Amino acid sequence: MRTYHRFLMGLGLAGSLYLASCSSTTNENETMTTEQTASEQSAKDVHSFAKPAEAVAKHLDLNIDVNFEQKVLHGTASYLIENKTGTDEIVFDTRGLEIEKVYLGDAQEETGFALGDEKEFLGRPLSVKIKPDTKKVTIQYKTSPDAAALQWLNPQQTAGKKYPFLFTQSQAILARTWIPIQDSPGIRITYNAEVKVPKELLAVMSASNPVEKNASGVYTFEMKQPIPSYLMALSVGDLVFREVGTQTGIYAEPATIEAAAYEFAEMDKMLVAAEKLYGKYRWDRYDLLVLPPSFPFGGMENPRLTFVTPTVLAKDRSLTSLIAHELAHSWSGNLVTNGTWNDFWLNEGFTVYFERRIMEEIYGKDYADMLNVLGYQDLMNTLNDLGKDSQDTRLKLDLEGRDPDEGLTDIAYEKGSFFLQNIEKAVGRERFDEFLNNYFNTFAFQSTNTDKFLDFLQKELIKGDEELAKKINVDGWVYSPGLPADFKVPTSARFAKVEEAFQSWKNGTPAAQLSTKDWSSHEWLHFIRMLPEQMSQEQMADLDKAFNFTNSGNSEVLAAWFIHAIQNNYTTADEAMEQFLTNVGRRKFLVPIYKALAATPEGKKKALAIYAKARPNYHAVSTVTLDEMLK
Ligand code: BES
Ligand code: ZN
Repeated sequence: MRTYHRFLMGLGLAGSLYLASCSSTTNENETMTTEQTASEQSAKDVHSFAKPAEAVAKHLDLNIDVNFEQKVLHGTASYLIENKTGTDEIVFDTRGLEIEKVYLGDAQEETGFALGDEKEFLGRPLSVKIKPDTKKVTIQYKTSPDAAALQWLNPQQTAGKKYPFLFTQSQAILARTWIPIQDSPGIRITYNAEVKVPKELLAVMSASNPVEKNASGVYTFEMKQPIPSYLMALSVGDLVFREVGTQTGIYAEPATIEAAAYEFAEMDKMLVAAEKLYGKYRWDRYDLLVLPPSFPFGGMENPRLTFVTPTVLAKDRSLTSLIAHELAHSWSGNLVTNGTWNDFWLNEGFTVYFERRIMEEIYGKDYADMLNVLGYQDLMNTLNDLGKDSQDTRLKLDLEGRDPDEGLTDIAYEKGSFFLQNIEKAVGRERFDEFLNNYFNTFAFQSTNTDKFLDFLQKELIKGDEELAKKINVDGWVYSPGLPADFKVPTSARFAKVEEAFQSWKNGTPAAQLSTKDWSSHEWLHFIRMLPEQMSQEQMADLDKAFNFTNSGNSEVLAAWFIHAIQNNYTTADEAMEQFLTNVGRRKFLVPIYKALAATPEGKKKALAIYAKARPNYHAVSTVTLDEMLK
């Protein structure tokens, strides 16, 4: 039961009236009633307080003021709602928000509200008193300066060094730290927004966007298609826009736009390839926003405007599969969405599969094969870390009681993608593509879950064919840990050449004499990953002299090389590594490097010293993980 004494904390005067009137309501966390089917139970989102079956938001009008001095967003979230059962409350998720007032209807009649107990990482439910015919609920609120979704950068932390910068990261359950919202991927809303920012800056969102600054500093946005809350996104900075194709373009700081325009010149081609595979792009424009280096992810598929790390600016277009990935989410994830975080593989597994299909379409099978093998290596590492019998290595997850961010691993990405490749192999590419087109069309703008997908798979593809069902092996892939016994390890012809070169180096050929002509980032990464854990100073120096790893301009190469530098006490790389760690905030790179450092007492000291300096440059998504790791 909800504890009502703590409940008082968020109450205004109007709230206490509400308290008197709702003290007999029961709580959503009470045990499952007998009428609830197993499938309804698995569709329930354990990471949201909202009760969408009773009252659900359909549209949001967001009006916020961005205050860089106070590091605060202040404004109103006005929802059009549907009261499905005639209930007297609608529940939103909040975390760290100050709720000032809540109004009902166009007449702005003040109403009661209550904030429930704070739960770790989930925040507090905001229950708003409504009437059976209430259509509109307006929440006036303020964010906290340490809101986990937001990163407020000072000018020094940007490329231009002149202006501050702000960006949000809402996935998985951080939207509630900057908007009071029904923060579940099973709920979709359309939105309009008006955002006021300092006049020197431009605001952009996961919506229709302005292409240049205006004198007022007020920008308006519209997202016409219904999206889940984790795709709510905002960024504010000294941004310029550059067109790439008619439907595609790039936002970046002036200091970065040139490099970005070169790097992502092929994004239009990717859109064409993606549409050819799985049907029309449904979001009108596809633009990129290149963020400062503290962005905690490689990319984030915010609709119409993918957020991307500048660490993919390798100057040779070699890391652009990341763009294919985020673009693919426009189908798998943004169009057809995992209904809960337990179904995360439906977003990421499909997207990795699709990403590699796009890359194959543009660069050929040899190229996609390399990505597949690197993905397999990532999967093996994750299986090793988690233990191959760990329940967290099943595709269908059970994250109840945990921060979803912790349970979202490479399993969803790589095991998910290999599962789909396995189905493709069993039915043939043509039939599988037809099935996927059908899937995206059938579930467009809806949230789905593992059960619904598997039902669809039975009905539309397996159709009672027992032999086929056996080959597809749903149980082995989805509900069992590890990998099925008949899993075939992927191979790559281009990597076979890398392996040859590696063998020759191992047999004593100096690094400078290896044939490495035309190697891409992927080949280099494969080579570096193959290097033995223990190497002599001479071997490290030989490699570094020949290939200049320590000073590489490629973030993937650097991050992989630093691990060997740490393990072999190759101090020549120290300065570059420290520079990298203080500049880059991408968690995927930070975690293994800090982990390698922390493996020895000496290294741990170094890690803590660097972390103390670098931490202010990281987004909360990265510091939460690293604080825990280095504590
Ligand atoms: N949606 C994810 C990022 C994400 C996942 C954020 C879970 C928060 C919680 C995004 O599409 C992604 O997968 N990014 C990858 C890049 C990709 C090429 C594998 C990343 O950031 O590394
Ligand atoms: Zn993804």
